[in-house]
Amino acid sequence: MNICVIGTGYVGLVTGACLADAGHSVICVDKDAEKIGLLKKNKTPIYEPGLSSLLRKNSIDFKTEIDREAVASDVFIIAVGTPPNQSDSRPNLSFVYDAADELGKKLGDLKGKAYKIVIIKSTVPPGTTSRVKKMILKELKHKKNIKLDIVFNPEFLREGSAIKDTLYPDRIVLGIESERSAKILKKLFKSFVKQENPAFLLTDIPSAEMVKYASNAFLATKISFINEIAYLCELAGANIDGVSKGIGMDKRIGKAFLNAGLGYGGSCFPKDTKALDHLAGDHGHVFHLLKAVIDVNNMQKKRFLHKIQKVLNGVENKTIGLLGLAFKQDTDDIRESIAIDMIDSLIERGAKIKAHDPLAEKKAREFFSGREKNIVFCDSPYEAAKGSHALIIATEWESFARLDLSKMRKTMKKPVIFDGRNLLDPQKVKNKGFAYHAVGGHERG
Ligand code: UDX
Repeated sequence: MNICVIGTGYVGLVTGACLADAGHSVICVDKDAEKIGLLKKNKTPIYEPGLSSLLRKNSIDFKTEIDREAVASDVFIIAVGTPPNQSDSRPNLSFVYDAADELGKKLGDLKGKAYKIVIIKSTVPPGTTSRVKKMILKELKHKKNIKLDIVFNPEFLREGSAIKDTLYPDRIVLGIESERSAKILKKLFKSFVKQENPAFLLTDIPSAEMVKYASNAFLATKISFINEIAYLCELAGANIDGVSKGIGMDKRIGKAFLNAGLGYGGSCFPKDTKALDHLAGDHGHVFHLLKAVIDVNNMQKKRFLHKIQKVLNGVENKTIGLLGLAFKQDTDDIRESIAIDMIDSLIERGAKIKAHDPLAEKKAREFFSGREKNIVFCDSPYEAAKGSHALIIATEWESFARLDLSKMRKTMKKPVIFDGRNLLDPQKVKNKGFAYHAVGGHERG
């Protein structure tokens, strides 16, 4: 099929690359000329395992506008960002509406009969997809030659495993308004996912829009729940490792997303939980549980900071080695990263930071530009540890679990580790002569 993907973020670019790899003819459009310039030169603006090679292998057309060639596509996928507003943290839908506006205008210029499907993949509150359709129809001036169907298809890919998640989805949710579009899209999905019988859920559009928010809110709830239990473990003399395992062995609960730590970050959970809370409020409903999930996540980092300050007897003029800047492992994304928050709080309290991350250093440098006085970026975890009064693990990079602790200990001012992701084996760390503090219980400290 001829497919036009609007927006070249994690979702748009990965979707476009997977579609192209399955033999579809793909055009990717983005207003960001710098990004398009890089992509045209075969450079990938984001880090995502396997993405560069997929883009190199397949020829995708990159453009800064929906031109004549792009508007001739059969299917349009809107995958632009819906970042939170600075003022009230509601989702900013202007990029979705701008894309709809441009698409409507360009479709309005088309001569002859055509059937077009517009898929919204951006995460949007229920009602938005219908509004987008009305906007496009308005631009089309309800011309009879263009038949348009709109579909909402939530995206569940995780950064760091985006390609795998796209090719092997747990489910494909399609919010549809016509059988015709459903039939075409089922065929389209079957053409690129690697499962023989992918699991489809066909539903109405507002329900599909809600599935995305509800899924992310539920996963965030699991994380805040386990973090609360971890805190209770600390108070009651239990150990979160055993407790997490014991809960997760119940098939009804499942073991995923039960890792206690500094809390959730990233471009989705913080944004989507707040958006859902606003949505509830707009409908006159107080979503108590969700509010608690958000509060616990904010509290979690404060609790850890309190622990650090207590153990170190304050952090003023102390040098802290900090491992991890990305919001999680296998990504260079620092959006809503707890590690970044942690650095800000420590610097505010007078600490000097020596930070290391395998991938996210460049983005963190940009973020802290102008404030370099209190932060040094290091090429290796050993360099970050050198001369430090303590070491904090803020991101769950697997490589941090395999550090040579004896080597580290020799160069540190004080052998203290704060493991904010419960990544290390407490006994091994203690055997190497470290004071070890983590999240949730007697062994974890
Ligand atoms: C998430 C959803 O998983 C994905 O389906 C959706 O499309 C986008 O949002 P992502 O933001 O890439 O994906 O990251 P994810 O792997 O879900 O982790 C989110 C955050 O939760 C990270 O900060 C991670 O450190 C934290 N987390 C995750 C925990 O603290 N504990 C866990 O057990 C799991």
